[in-house]
Amino acid sequence: MSLLGQSLLDTQSCTTNEILALFEKARKIRSFFQNKSHSDLTGHGRPIVALVFLEPSTRTYLSFKMACERMGFGTVDFINSNSTSTSKGESLEDTLKNIESMQPDLMVIRHGDPGLDAVIKKLSVPVINAGSGRKSHPTQALLDAMTIEEARGQIKGENVLILGDILHGRVAQSNMELLPKLGANVAVCGPEHWVGAVEQVQKFTDIAEALEWADVVMALRIQRERHGTEDIVGGDDFHLKFGLNRDRIKKMKDDAIILHPGPVNRGVEITTDVIEDPRCQILQQVTNGVYLRAALMLEILDRDFL
Ligand code: CP
Repeated sequence: MSLLGQSLLDTQSCTTNEILALFEKARKIRSFFQNKSHSDLTGHGRPIVALVFLEPSTRTYLSFKMACERMGFGTVDFINSNSTSTSKGESLEDTLKNIESMQPDLMVIRHGDPGLDAVIKKLSVPVINAGSGRKSHPTQALLDAMTIEEARGQIKGENVLILGDILHGRVAQSNMELLPKLGANVAVCGPEHWVGAVEQVQKFTDIAEALEWADVVMALRIQRERHGTEDIVGGDDFHLKFGLNRDRIKKMKDDAIILHPGPVNRGVEITTDVIEDPRCQILQQVTNGVYLRAALMLEILDRDFL
């Protein structure tokens, strides 16, 4: 091979021998990484996590990225934008299958297309759901539960109030699934149009009564991007009736805690003075998200850290 220090700007400059030698080298590297037991024994075998975010994210994306950096995993990032081939018309299904074909050890996927769930289930690499449409956000629910356990000392028997846009909120769906399993009493409160369909947990119509009952108040972001014309509750109207503000949280117990998955619409779901209240655990949720996700990836990849 005489490619040492050369640029590759076209194929004319390569000799047939150089090309065949490249093929041979590529096959050797492929076989090295496809032999997992071999690659586990070397520094070259560090896991590679594909972070595939087809919907916007700050906390979830960056906490997975931080967790990978902390654990020494490599990442390849796909953030849907004009610089990817989806802007040339490639379908999201094809995008996922192409990323799968590059053989990452794990894929972390956020998307908003219900049609992709069936495709994701058939991928040959493990997948962590980083938020799928309005359906589920399991790692958010797990980090919420971890935060409740730490701040309150237990989850079992805790009264957890989920407040706001339940209908469109994937965080609500995952928490209504997870928290009762861990022994919490879960209830919802919000505009009738957004809580009316909830059957699996208790419902409060009176916000003051709900806040008096709660040990944990989880305010949710109003999911404007998922609203239709029937969602008539605007930000001001919502805040007037259900938003957390200084006066309203006087109803809460002194040792109750306040959560919000973020991003926060200040003055809509929650006011700045409530965010600054010592009972508010929003930034602790963010911190826990990094380490919960690190632990989850280590478990899935069968890696030890400590
Ligand atoms: N909680 C949450 O999912 O936030 P991001 O949308 O910023 O990831």
